[in-house]
Amino acid sequence: MSGIPLLSGRDVERAVPPGRALDAVREAFVSFARGEWTMQPKLYVTNYPAGDFRAMPALGGGHALLKWVTSFPGNPARGLPTVSGLVVLSDAETGMPEAVLDAASVTALRTGAAAAVAAEALARPDADTFAVVGTGVNGEAAARMLAASGRTPLLWDLDEERARGVAERLGGRIGSREEALGADVVVTVTPGKSVLFGDGSLRDGQHVSLMGADGPGKAEVTVGELSRGRLFADDWEQASHGGELAAAVEAGTISRADVTMLGDVLAGTADGRRSGTEITLFDSTGLAIQDLAIALAAVERLDELDVPRFEP
Ligand SMILES: NC(=O)c1ccc[n+]([C@@H]2O[C@H](COP(=O)([O-])OP(=O)(O)OC[C@H]3O[C@@H](n4cnc5c(N)ncnc54)[C@H](O)[C@@H]3O)[C@@H](O)[C@H]2O)c1
Repeated sequence: MSGIPLLSGRDVERAVPPGRALDAVREAFVSFARGEWTMQPKLYVTNYPAGDFRAMPALGGGHALLKWVTSFPGNPARGLPTVSGLVVLSDAETGMPEAVLDAASVTALRTGAAAAVAAEALARPDADTFAVVGTGVNGEAAARMLAASGRTPLLWDLDEERARGVAERLGGRIGSREEALGADVVVTVTPGKSVLFGDGSLRDGQHVSLMGADGPGKAEVTVGELSRGRLFADDWEQASHGGELAAAVEAGTISRADVTMLGDVLAGTADGRRSGTEITLFDSTGLAIQDLAIALAAVERLDELDVPRFEP
């Protein structure tokens, strides 16, 4: 069939169920760690306080990808989505465009999957309580991935209505702030404007997937509290410049040697958790190679989708 297929958010979600997203993202981290997949650090185009645009390119598996995606937190009040944009997938040998996909659904799937993959790799094997703090677009995706892994996530959001909506859709449970932040595994997906974990608040043995502070000036944990945990990140380049760790790197309290990449743990070349009492903290900044993994998983199922095509 000729023309470039255009995949809506619904098409992407139909093509990539949670289990497939988890496998695809796990494998992408390993390919990235081995140097088989590559990417440039994401570029922010800011228009604060309204929001920002992010340009994210990657190369791997015979394909190239560019994601152009936004975060405009005030949009829901205008009846518009917080996250929007497009992903363009191209053939890496010819440069020809192969597909265009909705960026919000790709982002939610890969973000939720990364939170769950990190938790699976780094949490205590006997972890029993799982929580998601910040249940907006990407927090809901993380809760969906935890639910798909057989966990019943405890949900907490400043906006109780949002947490309740997610609980109804996914069968999760609403908890108090204290209960959520005290869970064995916590996934934080807030805008990172106020700190969730103040000094002395992390519990021994806890794992936290820190998803919200993915850019400059954002934090969900204090710099002091970071030093209590073993630190993991998705990519040093991005994490040291604009993630949860950036302020500590700038202050000189954390350097490259203090941070293990999640891909190295998944590839078996670095240690994950070393004891039941260790606190493990995963700083996710969001990688274009994760988007590539989801885009490829979606186009794999193209034959089963009835999508419009664009003739350039
Ligand atoms: N690491 C990644 O890969 C990645 C990917 C996508 C988005 N993000 C980041 O995640 C954050 C959330 O993105 P989103 O698209 O889900 O936004 P969103 O606006 O849909 O959701 C954010 C939610 O957090 C809640 N919230 C705000 N402050 C809170 C607080 N102090 N405690 C509890 N809940 C609070 C809001 O009520 C809202 O429901 C943003 O900072 C975004 O840039 C990271």
